[in-house]
Amino acid sequence: MLPDLRPPAPRPGADPRGVAVLGSTGSIGVQTLEVAARFPDRLRVVSLAAGTRWETLAEQARAVRPERVVIADESAYASLRGALAGTGIDVAAGAEAVRALAEDSGAEIVVAAIVGAAGLRPTLAAAESGKTIALANKESLVVAGALVRDAAARSGAVVIPVDSEHSALFQCLVGEPEGCVDRLVLTASGGPFRERPASTFGAITPAEAVAHPNWSMGAKISVDSATMMNKGLEVIEAHWLFDIPADRIDVVVHPESIIHSVVEFVDGSSKAQVGPPDMRVPIQVALSFPDRWPADHPRLDWTRTGPLTFEAADTDRFPCLGLAYAALRADGSSPAALNAANEVAVARFLDGSIRFPDVPRLVEAGLAVARPAGTLDDLLAVDRDARRAASEARAPYTV
Ligand SMILES: NC(=O)c1ccc[n+]([C@@H]2O[C@H](COP(=O)([O-])OP(=O)(O)OC[C@H]3O[C@@H](n4cnc5c(N)ncnc54)[C@H](OP(=O)(O)O)[C@@H]3O)[C@@H](O)[C@H]2O)c1
Repeated sequence: MLPDLRPPAPRPGADPRGVAVLGSTGSIGVQTLEVAARFPDRLRVVSLAAGTRWETLAEQARAVRPERVVIADESAYASLRGALAGTGIDVAAGAEAVRALAEDSGAEIVVAAIVGAAGLRPTLAAAESGKTIALANKESLVVAGALVRDAAARSGAVVIPVDSEHSALFQCLVGEPEGCVDRLVLTASGGPFRERPASTFGAITPAEAVAHPNWSMGAKISVDSATMMNKGLEVIEAHWLFDIPADRIDVVVHPESIIHSVVEFVDGSSKAQVGPPDMRVPIQVALSFPDRWPADHPRLDWTRTGPLTFEAADTDRFPCLGLAYAALRADGSSPAALNAANEVAVARFLDGSIRFPDVPRLVEAGLAVARPAGTLDDLLAVDRDARRAASEARAPYTV
């Protein structure tokens, strides 16, 4: 008989678990609501927050009936309030109200699915309030991993990754002893331009960049996947989640996106987590942990899966990955600067004001402002400076 491999800590609280969905109108947010709708006895959505899309938020609120909803864009408050008049749902607006949802006593689980550094304060508030954080917002760990880690250690909050690669690593590590990891191997699809010659990168359009071959995601993460910055952000995220240094986190390109990541152990054994690419699975893992709930998500048909292939990541064609490793090794505020400049670069690429190969150049411009920074205020100042540097950087750099 096998020993009991289940994690020792029982789940606190009783079902249904109260869930706050921050970033509910986005790709992860919508899929979270889909998962929650399947388990009404186990999950109760108590609050929703979004950035600007008040109509979608109102529609979600009418369907889900949370206790409160928040729209970050204060100019949308009146419209949202009007749309929810008579429902009894509490409506608020502004960044501070979004942050407050993360510490609301009714939410046992906070799904951190806001995109970008805008998710940092709510994630930090959830970490300070002892919540279970289902973390999709990797940027909050990239910007302030040490602060989130320390806040969670003080409050007893736990972070369960939603990112498919980190969920894979997490699932491989459940039941394993401390200090057993030799190496983490993050798989990467390689994005839409894996086979495209670098000489044509200047002609890449935003529409091409957001068309990911395997995953349907928000625009920002899709562009990050195309530049491979996403994998770089994930390396930094993995460092903070699993306390493994950059030198022991590898990236391998695996275009089929069937193996979601691999843990190599000190005895030479490796574990991988596999499945069809479907974000509802890691979302459900995060919401149900330490249990597993039955769901009819697509299964792999091993007789039709075909060959699984692997190749080294090409940091010459995709310099963002190398920049992220360098930022992690430099530590301090370099990851925060990298993230902020990247957000600006992606927005500028999407609005057509720079070209695809300019993205890493703008990131380099932002990295130049990195300096020692320990507090949240320090990091936010670096974030602002890096955004300014990347906004003011002249483009196109490339000809
Ligand atoms: N999509 C995926 O498959 C996937 C996989 C792994 C990890 N992730 C990570 O998950 C996060 C979300 O990604 P996504 O693809 O779901 O992005 P998305 O589709 O662009 O959605 C982003 C969400 O954040 C909200 N938002 C933006 N700024 C906000 C603010 N200041 N305050 C409150 N809400 C704000 C948006 O609201 P409005 O749209 O209403 O403005 C939207 O609900 C990212 O960190 C991404 O890296 C995503």
